[in-house]
Amino acid sequence: MPDTLSPQIRFGSNSGQPATRRDGVAKVTGTATYAADNHPDNMLYAVYAAATIARGRVATLDTAAAEAHPGVVRVFTHENRPELQGDPDEKPTMFSNRIEVLQNDIVRYAGQPIALVIAETIEAATEGARLLDPRYDLQPPRTKIDDNETFEITGQAFGQPGPTIYGDIEAGHAAADLAIDVTYETPGQFHNAMETHSVVAKWTGDRLELDTPTQALTMSCAAYAYFFGIPAENVTIRSPYLGGGFGSKAFAVGPIVLGILAARATGRPVKLSLTRQQMFGPVGHRGTTRQRLRLGTASGGALTVIDHQGIAATSSFDDFLEAAPNATQGLYAAPALSSTHSGVRLDIGTPGPMRAPGEASGSAALECAMDEMAEAAGMDPLDFRLANYSETEPGTGKPFSSKKLRECYEQGAERFGWASRPREPRQMMDENGLLVGWGVGTALFGCPMFQAEARATLRSDGTALVETSAADMGQGAWTALAQIAADSLGLPLDKVEFRAGDSALPDGGVAGGSGHTATAGGALHAAGSDVIRQLGELAAADPDSPLHGAGNASFVARDGRIFLDNDESRGETFAEIFARSGGAEIVGNGNAARNPEDAQRHAMSSHGAVFAEVKVDPDLCQLRVTRLVGAFAAGRIINPRLAESQLMGGMIWGTSFALHEEAKYDTRTGRIMNSDLAGYQVPVNADVHGLEVIHVHEDDPYVNVLGIKGVGEIGITGTVGAIANAIYHATGKRIRRFPIRIQDLL
Ligand code: MOS
Repeated sequence: MPDTLSPQIRFGSNSGQPATRRDGVAKVTGTATYAADNHPDNMLYAVYAAATIARGRVATLDTAAAEAHPGVVRVFTHENRPELQGDPDEKPTMFSNRIEVLQNDIVRYAGQPIALVIAETIEAATEGARLLDPRYDLQPPRTKIDDNETFEITGQAFGQPGPTIYGDIEAGHAAADLAIDVTYETPGQFHNAMETHSVVAKWTGDRLELDTPTQALTMSCAAYAYFFGIPAENVTIRSPYLGGGFGSKAFAVGPIVLGILAARATGRPVKLSLTRQQMFGPVGHRGTTRQRLRLGTASGGALTVIDHQGIAATSSFDDFLEAAPNATQGLYAAPALSSTHSGVRLDIGTPGPMRAPGEASGSAALECAMDEMAEAAGMDPLDFRLANYSETEPGTGKPFSSKKLRECYEQGAERFGWASRPREPRQMMDENGLLVGWGVGTALFGCPMFQAEARATLRSDGTALVETSAADMGQGAWTALAQIAADSLGLPLDKVEFRAGDSALPDGGVAGGSGHTATAGGALHAAGSDVIRQLGELAAADPDSPLHGAGNASFVARDGRIFLDNDESRGETFAEIFARSGGAEIVGNGNAARNPEDAQRHAMSSHGAVFAEVKVDPDLCQLRVTRLVGAFAAGRIINPRLAESQLMGGMIWGTSFALHEEAKYDTRTGRIMNSDLAGYQVPVNADVHGLEVIHVHEDDPYVNVLGIKGVGEIGITGTVGAIANAIYHATGKRIRRFPIRIQDLL
């Protein structure tokens, strides 16, 4: 790949290569150690009983029966639960919701922990929890958006989005020759990572060791330390493998606190692992939304206004909102834009971040509304988007750090064959008599960058160890980050050992927000560069080195050799330098964060265009997504195989959002009726047909030193709307509620 970035940043032979997952063999052969695979000596098991009502009080619990069960060691309820030093209503970090840890008898949602049973075996703990036989004082649960009043959000914290308004909204509406006013609904969705949340907690005095999967090691240490009144540095978290995170494992959650509490109370290590059913409650979800979109256009299809009002469900006791209307920001060139948020308190667990939080739901509604507006304006949906293409960030006029969205539209449309699309719906039929429809959606996601530190150790034997704490949640970071590190050290990938997923390592920031590769990768690159700088200084100071006296020059390292930037012939191998100096290793440190001036001057986003084909049986309305083509521009792609995988996974999740996923609440009990992987539907292989990803080349000199934007979340955005629009194109039916089901089309 040609390198057009700053001269200090050089990529060797590793970055840009489709290396296979370095953790793959361990994972598929079962040798990877997940949190719940740890069995310290003398370990107990904790199982919590979950509320089967959504609103009310726990009246009675038969703790005597549970305590009498063989193997049961302790039973904790709100009446005897040992004290916590931290307040469960406080949020110790920005990645915290209020938690439920048996602090009182109030039930706030179905699935809330109401008692904890600790036993010698998992079977005894499970049976003990069953014997508790809770009785409740019931109140009618509120589970639908119409079940309570809305409240306005005024904050600007994560999950508490405030309004964003620019231009004259009323004038925008007034200037429209054509207008639409449509309302879309999206359901509650649950992450369902294959690995459920788990902890193995072990206390030694006031030091705490945790094996628990987390996307945010440092913040999790701080949060758990807070609840137990110990300094954050007394907590060690090991999280080398995650069986999926998706945002669910970003926040500190109540059940983990209960596991830690059980270990402290018994003086023995304790394991607590959620069942699949327990994943539907205390560990976050994507909240239900209702979104009203009013768009207007003047002649030529130019938008005069985008007015996006979102209502999102949250719990009765906390504020996290699915910030759907945020998806309208920074995309189309309307002179006036309003995105506002309100919440509704329901008797449900508190929502949290779920892959593309806000944007997934908001993009679904926006891209459908754009299709409706194009239809009203008599324009091809892609032409309509191009007519409203923003060359600078709408609202601020800031230049984009890079934006290859036009190329995404062009390359995606070309590959898909969009040009032959008839404008009217119900015009295409395949050889089997199925209705065929084509739709498009624009993909957009931010490219945040966090702060990270890393360490690189180059050894005299020609190998290196690179370390940064942030975990790979299954997306392949372990491999892509090692590629970056190997290039920074001028070594082949197989000479570089990569250690991550341990809070004792240099703080790697957060594996989230699609920012992990940029953030941790930046730190690793800096650490490797620090090693090469030291190696160069050693050589330059040594009269026996061909680099002697080259102290002010810049050095390049490749294939275990260091040489002058402007003269490749002048240099020597790492081994020669180590042999003369007699040293065993050189340690380098690095950190990474975005340059605040670049962040101030530029708008930064990843972009993409997703094209969908669906086929619908005209009689039975059976529905299939037969083709998806996504073209994405997301800065530098470190590993095209893994990036393609991420984008495909996102597009499949978009299919899931469009056609499958929905938590179904029983309105009488407030329980989720489909709280398992049989009833909670997600696409399987048979639901995924043509799936194609195009990487659109994009150089970005501002987003960070490596030019990486991230691909973790953007694939969902765009896809949902593309599929819904294709369904309209096939059938002429506009369905404004997700997931779109067969019965909606009858
Ligand atoms: Mo993601 S929802 O930032 O893990």
